[in-house]
Amino acid sequence: MSSSVVTTGAVLVAAGAAGAATAFLTTTLRQQQKGVVATDTPPAIAVAAAEASLSKGPTLGEATAQHLREALEVAKQLTGEQKAELEAIAQQLTAPGKGVLAADESVSTIGKRLVKAGLQNDFETRRGYREVLLSHPDLGQYLAGAILHEETLDQVHSDGRTFVQVLSDKGVLVGVKTDRGLQPLIQSPTETQTLGMGDLLERSRRYRAKGARFAKWRAVLRLDAAAGTPTDAALALNAAQLAQYAALSQASAAGLVPIVEPELLIEGTHSAAEFAACTEVILGEVYAALAKAQVHLEGTLLKPQMAMAGIGAPSKHTREELVALTLAALRRRVPPAVPGVVFLSGGQSEEEATGNLNAIARAAGVGVAGAEGEALRRRHPWSLSFSFGRSLQASVLQVWSSGGGAAAAIDIAGALAKANAQAQQGAYEGPHPSLTGAASLHDPNRGWQGPPAAAAAAAAAPPAPDTVKGAEQATPLS
Ligand code: 13P
Repeated sequence: MSSSVVTTGAVLVAAGAAGAATAFLTTTLRQQQKGVVATDTPPAIAVAAAEASLSKGPTLGEATAQHLREALEVAKQLTGEQKAELEAIAQQLTAPGKGVLAADESVSTIGKRLVKAGLQNDFETRRGYREVLLSHPDLGQYLAGAILHEETLDQVHSDGRTFVQVLSDKGVLVGVKTDRGLQPLIQSPTETQTLGMGDLLERSRRYRAKGARFAKWRAVLRLDAAAGTPTDAALALNAAQLAQYAALSQASAAGLVPIVEPELLIEGTHSAAEFAACTEVILGEVYAALAKAQVHLEGTLLKPQMAMAGIGAPSKHTREELVALTLAALRRRVPPAVPGVVFLSGGQSEEEATGNLNAIARAAGVGVAGAEGEALRRRHPWSLSFSFGRSLQASVLQVWSSGGGAAAAIDIAGALAKANAQAQQGAYEGPHPSLTGAASLHDPNRGWQGPPAAAAAAAAAPPAPDTVKGAEQATPLS
């Protein structure tokens, strides 16, 4: 049972829900014994820890502090040389005119997209699709990094090189998704925590040895004023997990630069202003937790959502609102020591995401001449770029799945990366290469939607025949 699971149990105790805590811990333990939940610590130790938590009844503050104490010990071990190396990787990732491709979807998430496009979700189809995404000869001009799923880290291009080698040959840094998906919080079933902490240090070392230089961990929060989310418990737990992940990533042998991703979902009826206010709360919690864990901020990147009205909102935001609200939230909450902010596309269409990134860059003074540009850049000291998944892939999948051929799909992958690299410089003028145009890429399965009963049923279902061993089965949605 993971320390985070124990923490969740402790949170329930703190909330006066000892019965629910016992049920949660027992269910999780049973799932672990069946192998459907990532086993972070041996069950006997986990039970002892859970019992200790239950009998002592720590407060949420104490549980979180314990979580952070562990990360702190790890962070303290960083040498000056290791910090310098992390900084150098982060600098490379924030090179002007480049961004990051997120091609790290879990087996289930990419599987849903492949199946929707009429393809199989098997090892070879995923390999072939990722080959198309990573093959454009000019990719290194537009991408500083590409985040891979751990499965892709071991896969081989049809020219015989590993994908890690293919990217290195283009000068693109290799990243890896180190979280293992989401699990609902029993006390707040529409909210989640992120799995994968228990063996994170060991896995990070392994990924580093295979060529990875940076990592990604996705925490998910949901804004629903009527339901009172994000709850304090979800905020504290997810911030603590992001901080612990960041500290452990940096300490993994020579170190992985952690991309810290607290994604606020666009589901809901909120306005863009409400979304931005919530983003400020989240970022406040996250950077307080990172500070407590002594994470070396100069060796990190932030991956937030742009400030948007909910997909069910009665009126949509304008581009000007999105830009102003997004930048204000970052100015108020992101320390200047952080070298870069790389946005996720979060369900925006390919065209929207590029246009919005371009407008954000301009408003932050990128490509703006004279004293005005200088003043704007001073107010926005971090690099602002993309770490898009769907907005760099939707047209590629469309071409590839509809028999357009690998060459055409590779071309469009390059064209999409180029358009966003131009937007990073505030120099995107169009026309956009997208084939999916202004179509929303909203994917309602990117966050937790179901009650615990649905989660338990999904977790108890037999594992998919072709998933990565030890990963994914814990979470039907990631
Ligand atoms: P989208 O750009 O598709 O939102 O995904 C980026 C990502 O990596 C989220 O973790």
